[in-house]
Amino acid sequence: MVIGSGGREHALVWKLAQSPSVKKIYCAPGNPGIARQAERVDIAAGDLARLRDFAAAHAVDLTVVGPDDCLAAGAADLFAQRGLRVFGPTREAARLEWSKSFAKELMREAGIPTADFATFTDHDAASEFLRSRPYPLVVKASGLALGKGVTVCRSREEAERALRAAMVDRAFGDAGCEVVIEEFLEGDEVSVHAFCDGATARLFPPARDHKALLDGGRGPNTGGMGTYAPVPGIDEAMMAEIERTVVAPVLRAMAGRGAPFRGCLYPGLIRTAAGFKVLEFNARFGDPETQSLMRLLASDLAEVLLACAEGRLTGTRVAWSGRSAACLVAASGGYPGAYRKGLAITGLDRAEADPDVVVFHAGTALRDGVLVTNGGRVLGVSAVADALPGAVAKCYAAIGRIGFDGKQYRTDIGGEVTA
Ligand code: AMP
Ligand code: GLY
Repeated sequence: MVIGSGGREHALVWKLAQSPSVKKIYCAPGNPGIARQAERVDIAAGDLARLRDFAAAHAVDLTVVGPDDCLAAGAADLFAQRGLRVFGPTREAARLEWSKSFAKELMREAGIPTADFATFTDHDAASEFLRSRPYPLVVKASGLALGKGVTVCRSREEAERALRAAMVDRAFGDAGCEVVIEEFLEGDEVSVHAFCDGATARLFPPARDHKALLDGGRGPNTGGMGTYAPVPGIDEAMMAEIERTVVAPVLRAMAGRGAPFRGCLYPGLIRTAAGFKVLEFNARFGDPETQSLMRLLASDLAEVLLACAEGRLTGTRVAWSGRSAACLVAASGGYPGAYRKGLAITGLDRAEADPDVVVFHAGTALRDGVLVTNGGRVLGVSAVADALPGAVAKCYAAIGRIGFDGKQYRTDIGGEVTA
């Protein structure tokens, strides 16, 4: 069973459906695209007790938790208490994502490269700190804030505003009770995912997300508008460095605290002149990174996830195709602000006429048998090819065939490498 309803979950379900060992897949609550490979279960992702009861009643062998808030709410703990196998960290292990201040302290203790920082729970003390700092700097709500809790501040005035929004106006609810103020870092960003079983990690190919809404990195930040993998220029030696300086020390530190990390660890990194540094940790698969990455996994996903859940990843092969993948998000007009729902979607068959293209559903719904938009990020159009430019070209050809009122997407994904 997969918990969630986005493009990430569709990519996981799509890949699980190819596993010879998988007889049946449930997805709660899923979406119309997911329904092609899985039986949808009408239980909300946040209704953890009912999901656990469903898994027990239907003898589900493995549950994969998609969303960060389910993990922070203790989904993995709840399933494990009932003796149910689950892929995803416990609440304590997921703290790496739901508390940025915890993650920063852990990195400081373990000597993991990251931006210099200070944490505050008192607004006046934080404000005082801002007086003495060089700009730009970065203000972050410590808790989960739907990707909106981070502000890069060019001046003290901007930083004061960000601090006030988080700590006084509570723009992110309790997530902003505590803030991290950190040094601004410059460089290219890279997402590294790792399958983890508590002690051992297996890194995925490096991926790149494009968080800004508009071409050239302009406009407001979104959940992610497009990804590709692997990232040209990140070689094996760099991945080995990331494993040695980031992933392995995190696993050791978490195990040492009695909270071994089992699940997908996804550090967001930045490649500075002084080497790779960690911007944040996520305790789950990235969305839309997963939509590219699952296209490249050559191994049986169910076997790998089970091995993680059972702490025996060392003896499990994780192989990648060696090809390149890209995924473009088709979003609703107005996103990430207000947008209309219920608009008819056309052209999916034509988009998927190319056998290298798979369209993952995110915010879609069926109304009277018609596929309509039902969210901000509507579809993830993915493609594979022997090299990145080919994958990107296939994505653009396919997304052009898809229609819905207000459809918006970035036209420059992969452009920085294909140009
Ligand atoms: P986070 O959720 O912490 O990864 O932050 C979201 C985005 O803010 C990142 O993907 C970066 O683009 C930017 N960001 C976060 N921290 C920093 C930093 N210390 N320096 C520069 N940019 C940052
Ligand atoms: N792609 C960004 C995220 O999943 O957090």
